[in-house]
Amino acid sequence: MTEKFETALVHAGRAGTKSYGYVNPKLTRGSTVLYPDMATKLTLGKRYLEPVELYGICGTDTHFALEGAIAEIEGGSHCQVVGSGLAAITMPLLAYLSAGDHLLVPDSVYGPTRTFCGIVLRRFGIETSYYNPMLDEAGLAALIRDNTKVLFTESPGSHTFEVQDIPALARAAHASGVKVFMDNTWGIHHFQPFAHGVDVSIQALTKYVGGHSDIILGAVTVNSDSDWAWLRKGSLELGQYASPDDCWLALRGLRTLSVRLRAQEQAALSVANWFSQQSEVARVLHPALPSCPGHNFFKRDFTGACGLFGVVFQERFNAAAVVKMIDALKLFGIGASWGGYESLVLPTTGTISRSAGTGVFEGEIARFQIGLENTEDLIADLTHGLAALRAG
Ligand SMILES: Cc1ncc(COP(=O)(O)O)c(C=O)c1O
Repeated sequence: MTEKFETALVHAGRAGTKSYGYVNPKLTRGSTVLYPDMATKLTLGKRYLEPVELYGICGTDTHFALEGAIAEIEGGSHCQVVGSGLAAITMPLLAYLSAGDHLLVPDSVYGPTRTFCGIVLRRFGIETSYYNPMLDEAGLAALIRDNTKVLFTESPGSHTFEVQDIPALARAAHASGVKVFMDNTWGIHHFQPFAHGVDVSIQALTKYVGGHSDIILGAVTVNSDSDWAWLRKGSLELGQYASPDDCWLALRGLRTLSVRLRAQEQAALSVANWFSQQSEVARVLHPALPSCPGHNFFKRDFTGACGLFGVVFQERFNAAAVVKMIDALKLFGIGASWGGYESLVLPTTGTISRSAGTGVFEGEIARFQIGLENTEDLIADLTHGLAALRAG
């Protein structure tokens, strides 16, 4: 990306699309592409690594516009969109790994990624080991086996927000020929994956890129022709597809991403700082605050934050009291996902699953997604919530 982020978001994916003079790329739906003759069909059929409309599953102009834009903001060379953020995790793992391979996954990983490794990959003879997300280069190197093929990373981690030392982990992985995958959904453009040693970057576009809680979509981006060849081939072999309507909405979301992200980052920092001054709170798990594991790596490697963070309550408040607090909130929806324009909250302690014994915190944890509401209104609502917590 040579232009600054805000400028790139306005222009990305628009050049050369069939917009017929309109500002926005056209929405193209389709399965069958008709070829003028057999010679054209035979020639074009070999060009599946290029953005060429061959058949619906290979993508339409709308897909290619979004894929070009995401590759640009991730700093990669090629992108493949798929039907969900979770598919953006499972598809490259299935495309890359084979029976007998070994995979390293951080203990703080998004729950459905853990489920996929434990059920699907296991069924196909691929073994997963979980590692402490705070491991350093030597610690990770010691876990690499002869059959280790992928180091999976997610930084910060789901629910507990550990920021990983990605450059050090990538060095250890690459020294043994291991590919580095990263779920970069939280970082979006604030973390440039390929500049930090990542080979395969994953985005749940469902979150901030969509931005309006109305699409489910994922993207996988790589930065070399060789990585693109196995990724694209694997995606087609697995029959992955994303709706062009959702791609079009994601392109629309992209145009306002910089202003939404900046507003939500600032509001979330205000709310996180407010939480850190409340006596009911043991610590705030926001990567920009020193109380978050890996804060130093955040300062070194990220250019900013999004609006999602966790709060650990004092040990004296049990799960039932946290539920009372959540039920007392008027402006926070109780719901999964994040990155939309509205504030959300979820109690997370019960959903955290660990295999490597990491991430033990002082008390119950709740996850907050800060939306575009007025910050003072949100803090007033949370003040009522904390009163319910104390009464609980
Ligand atoms: C870190 C992370 N990665 C991936 C996903 C999956 O995204 P989707 O809901 O689009 O499948 C989520 C969803 O919450 C997430 O939090």
